[in-house]
Amino acid sequence: MIEKVKKSFETISLPPPQIDSHHSLERMIYQRRSIREYSEETLTLSDVSQLLWSGQGITDPMDNYRAVPSAGALYPLELYLITGNVQNLSEGIYRYHPSKHELAIIVFGEKRSSLSIASLRQDCVRDGAVTIAVTAVFERTRWKYGNRSERYICMEVGHVCQNISLQAEALNLGTVVVGAFNDSSVTQVLDLPDNEIPLCLIPIGKKQN
Ligand SMILES: Cc1cc2nc3c(=O)[nH]c(=O)nc-3n(C[C@H](O)[C@H](O)[C@H](O)COP(=O)(O)O)c2cc1C
Repeated sequence: MIEKVKKSFETISLPPPQIDSHHSLERMIYQRRSIREYSEETLTLSDVSQLLWSGQGITDPMDNYRAVPSAGALYPLELYLITGNVQNLSEGIYRYHPSKHELAIIVFGEKRSSLSIASLRQDCVRDGAVTIAVTAVFERTRWKYGNRSERYICMEVGHVCQNISLQAEALNLGTVVVGAFNDSSVTQVLDLPDNEIPLCLIPIGKKQN
């Protein structure tokens, strides 16, 4: 299968992810709540690195397995980072490349407002320091699993959302999964290729005191 991938020449290496912390998994599950209001504090590149890694990062470099399971290890999901307030990272839209743990710029500029409008004007999307958009290239799974691919991809996006939510909690960040948006408007803001469909948006920001 040949996929058209937009070329990007500007990439940003992310700091390596940490695989230990002082938080217990049980407490993160217990504490997690959807949070829709954030303080204006800046996120660090390490926060961004950790969040993206938890969603799609490589955890087995030998076989390229990732932090989330995927039917047939076909990995139909893509992560985009829409930035507003991150230290040493310009505002814009970036695509996450798991194999190199790096970001490739898609477009520079303030995009949170138009993404929020595309999300039925949900303020959390405008106010998050970043939003992670999860998209799917269904064909990557469909050629093998046919009609079952849709349910498989639904399961996979759930894994991604939960990992990112628990990782956000461990970083003391607030987040919420946003499923209510206009598909074609989000597709337009992210400038997605024809074969890619947006599945959810995950705004993230520092919790208010
Ligand atoms: C698939 C899905 C879509 C959701 N879409 C939205 C949304 O568009 N906007 C929003 O504010 N919350 C959204 N939520 C968050 C739910 O409202 C929230 O999980 C629910 O109220 C339970 O609260 P809790 O997450 O704090 O346990 C969504 C949650 C899921 C799982």
